[in-house]
Amino acid sequence: MDKKLKIITLMLVFISFCAVALYNGLITRRYHIITDKFFSHQSIRIILITDLHSHIYGKDQHKIVTRMAKEKPDLILLAGDIADDQVPIEGTEIFLKEIQDMAPIYYVTGNHEIWSRQVDMIKSVFKQYGVHVLEHTYKKAVINEIPLIIGGVDDPDIVRYQDLHYNWAQEMLNTFEELKEETAYQILLSHRPEFIDLYKETSFDLVVSGHSHGGQIRIPLLLNGLYAPNQGWFPKYAGGHYRHEGINHVVSRGVSFNPRLPRIFNPPEIVVIEIKGDK
Ligand SMILES: [Fe+2]
Repeated sequence: MDKKLKIITLMLVFISFCAVALYNGLITRRYHIITDKFFSHQSIRIILITDLHSHIYGKDQHKIVTRMAKEKPDLILLAGDIADDQVPIEGTEIFLKEIQDMAPIYYVTGNHEIWSRQVDMIKSVFKQYGVHVLEHTYKKAVINEIPLIIGGVDDPDIVRYQDLHYNWAQEMLNTFEELKEETAYQILLSHRPEFIDLYKETSFDLVVSGHSHGGQIRIPLLLNGLYAPNQGWFPKYAGGHYRHEGINHVVSRGVSFNPRLPRIFNPPEIVVIEIKGDK
């Protein structure tokens, strides 16, 4: 190979590498969970969305909504930072309007909704579109004839920002203590992945979180995230499906898009969780 051809080849390889690394189009990531709490013919398909930060994915949010609709979800979970403290709420409203009839929707706040100091207004917008807003509480639901318990907690920053006088973690344990008697499959929405040791003290079967944005910079097979808020460098829970004794923890890398904070090998993701029974 002459020198000129070698240089062109190397340049093409480099350009392709950069294109893949910086690709920021939406992707769909799938996780599969088996549970003995469902009969073998039963299943539920969940879509998990986190960290939208009110970003607008095309006219009427069609890029994200079309991708979600294709999955025909039984349940939609919004695990915080859907709205933002710096970005107008318009993107969130359009998103909720477009998905309101797709499936039952459950939501908890993230830190950015709390930081907005308008969290009550934000929650009222979600409620306006029929979303179940979970504030240190849980609800019982039946989906595909399967009994479920869906719990959720506000982001822990709510205590500081609203000058509340309770211990966030203890309040959570107290609220969900009575669920230890329940036999239904239990799902917890909590924006922060770093509190997994706390979630392990509860009876939830599945915990869904966001917040870490995939650790912003990833290298496939080598680095699952460089930095995540509240976890620091090389975060343990940057994104993925983590299995602990008796508990599945799914951390979404989120659908955030901020040109000032490039995502490397870390495209925004819609997460689909398929839960199947083996009873
Ligand atoms: Fe967050």
